Amino acid sequence: MARFVVGCQTVDMTDLIEAPTATHPLDRLSEAESAAAVSMIRSHDRFGPKMRFASVDLRLPAKDVVHGYVTGSSFDRQVEVVMFDAGDGSTHEIVVELNSNTIPVWERLEGVQPSIIIDEFGESQQAIRDDPDFQAAMAKRGITDMSLVVIDPWSAGNYGDPIESSQRLIRGLVWVHEQPGDNHYARPIDGIMVIFDLAEQKVVRIEDERVLPVPTASVESAEWATGFTPEGRERTDVRPLEIIQSEGPSFTVTGDQLSWQKWDLRVGWSTREGLVINTVTYTEGDDVRPVLYRASLAEMTVPYGDPSSTQARKNAFDVGEYGMGMLANSLTLGCDCLGEIHYLDAHFCNAAGDVVQIPQAICIHEEDFGISWKHTDFQSEATEVRRLRRLVVSFIATVGNYEYGIYWYFYQDGRIENEIKLTGMLSTAALDTGETTDYGVKLGDHLYGPNHQHFFCTRLDMAVDGNANRVVEVDTVPAPADENPWGNAFRGQRTVLTSEQDAQRRIDPLAARYWKVESSDRTNKMGTPTGYKLIAGENCLPFATEESSIRARAGYMWNHLWVTPYNEDELWPAGKYPNQSAGGEGLPAWTAADRPIDDTDVVVWYTMGHNHLTSLEDWPVMPVASIGFTLKPSGFFDYSPAMDLPPSSHCH
Ligand code: CO
Repeated sequence: MARFVVGCQTVDMTDLIEAPTATHPLDRLSEAESAAAVSMIRSHDRFGPKMRFASVDLRLPAKDVVHGYVTGSSFDRQVEVVMFDAGDGSTHEIVVELNSNTIPVWERLEGVQPSIIIDEFGESQQAIRDDPDFQAAMAKRGITDMSLVVIDPWSAGNYGDPIESSQRLIRGLVWVHEQPGDNHYARPIDGIMVIFDLAEQKVVRIEDERVLPVPTASVESAEWATGFTPEGRERTDVRPLEIIQSEGPSFTVTGDQLSWQKWDLRVGWSTREGLVINTVTYTEGDDVRPVLYRASLAEMTVPYGDPSSTQARKNAFDVGEYGMGMLANSLTLGCDCLGEIHYLDAHFCNAAGDVVQIPQAICIHEEDFGISWKHTDFQSEATEVRRLRRLVVSFIATVGNYEYGIYWYFYQDGRIENEIKLTGMLSTAALDTGETTDYGVKLGDHLYGPNHQHFFCTRLDMAVDGNANRVVEVDTVPAPADENPWGNAFRGQRTVLTSEQDAQRRIDPLAARYWKVESSDRTNKMGTPTGYKLIAGENCLPFATEESSIRARAGYMWNHLWVTPYNEDELWPAGKYPNQSAGGEGLPAWTAADRPIDDTDVVVWYTMGHNHLTSLEDWPVMPVASIGFTLKPSGFFDYSPAMDLPPSSHCH
C-alpha cells in the first residue's frame, strides 16, 4: 500500500482559493479543498495544540441543490470536519464554507469517540512495545525482541467498564513474527490483551489471563514462513489471459461523471465509506430515468462468536470505527484490475490534517459477462445470441487482517449489483497443548480461527423514476383452495410497507421473498408502477443474544431490510459515532418514530450477513468469499432492455 504524504501546510491559502474548484455539487472533495478547510481550521482561534483530524469530507449538498444544478451555475461548497482533542477528550464537528472562507459551525461534543485515526495504529503499537509491563509480559513468554511484536488495535467497544465511556481506547491484540516480514497471524500471543489510551498514549492495563504456547504453524508449513507465496511452488500450467479492447473501453469519464452506454452516474468518496455511487440514471432516447440517488456501504460490523476472554470483545465496525476510505488500497494494473482500466485517485487527511494521497484508489472498467440472451428456433435452426457486459466500479480496503473489495456492477440489461469480496487473513487465536474448542477450527499446532460473522449495511437512497417511491414486500404463496382445483397454483402476494416499523423485515427464501421499490408517479405500458426489486443473496442473522453488548450497539443487524423517509442527517446505521458507543443509535432510534414511508423519498437499508465458521481452506490467506444483492428492473422497462444489444462481430 504505497502512500505519499503531501504537506498541505506549505500551500499558500491564496493559491488554494484561486485553484480550480468543483464543477458539480457532488464532485469529490479535491486535495486543494481539503487542504483549504484544514488550513482555515488550523488558523482559527479555537484550534488547540492537541486537536487531531479524524475526518475531512464533503458535506453533502442538499438534494434540491443537486437537482437544480445546471452547468456553470454557482453552488455552496462545504467541508465537514471531525476532530478529536487529545487535550480534554472532546470531539469537534466543524463545517467549513469554502466559497466564503467561513466556519459557520464549530460544535464541541463530549461522550462520543470519532473513528480510530490512522496515525493511532502505529502510535499505539510503538507505545505498547515500549511499555515495561508489556515487555515483562512478553518476557514471560520468552519474547524479548520487541521489533518482532505486532499489535492489532481492535476498537474497544463498550461492555460497561466506566473507562469505555470516558477514555479513548483500543484493545491491543498481540502477535509475533518468527522472521521479520513473515505472516504474523500464524503466531498469536493469545490470553493477553492491552487496554490502551489513545489520548494519553499510554497503557491503561494489561489483561494477562494466561500464558499460552505460541503456535508454530509457520514452522509446520515452512512454505508460508517467509511470505504469502510458496516459493518455487507456483503452478506452471497457467498461460497468459489478456484482455484486449483495441478501440478502448465503452465508457467515458469526465471528472467524477461516468457514462457507459445508457447508464450515467457520479463517483463519490468519503473517509468513512470509501466509494459512493451518486445519481444513477438510465437513458432511453431523450428520457433520462433516475434509479438511485446515492448508494454506499454505510456500516459493517464483525462480531466474534468465541467466549474466550480475548475473542469475546472483538466487534469491529469497519466503516464507522475505522473508515473504509482511509484504509483504501492503491490498486495495481494487471493484479487488482484487468483490462482497460480508468483509475481515480483519492485522498484523506491524517491526524495533523496533512493530505495523504491514495493513487489509483477507484477502479473503473468493463467486463464480458457471458451471454445476455439466446434462442435457437428448433424448427428453422435459426440462432440468435448476444453477449452481456457489465460496468464495474470498485475499490478495496484493508482493515487490519481483512481485505474487503466493494464492487458495483451495472449491466446492459438494466440490473445493478453490489458484491463484497472478503479476503485476507483470519484474526487467529491460540489453544493450550491438548486443548480443543467448539468456537473455531484448528488450523495447526495450537492455532485456530475463531468463528465470527460479517454484517454489511448498504444505504440505498432510491429514486426510481423520481424521488416519490414506495416499498412493497412480495412473497410467493400457494393459491387459496377455492381458486386452486388442481393444487398447482401460486401467485405473488404484495404487501405495501407503509411505516418504518412495518418495514423492518427479514429474508424468507422459502417464500421467494423480495422487496420492490416502485415509482409513485410513473407507470409502464401496462399501467402498473415502474420498479426495481431488491433480491437478497447470501444472508443470515446474528447469533449474539438479546443481552449482548453488540445487540445494542449494532441493532441494525437484526433486520435485513429497513426503510426510512429521507433525512439528510440519517446516514449511519449504527449512529454517527459507533466507536465505544453504548448503543441504541442509528436505525433503531430513527425508526422508533414509525414515520410513514409510502409515496415519499425513501431510503432503503439492506443488511446482509456472511456467517464465518472458519475452515482449513481459509488459511493462510483466505480465498475470496463473496456476498451481495441485486437491484433488478421489474416493470421498469416495457420490454427487455437487452433486445438492442448488437451481435458479436467475431462469431464464427
Ligand atoms: Co470472516
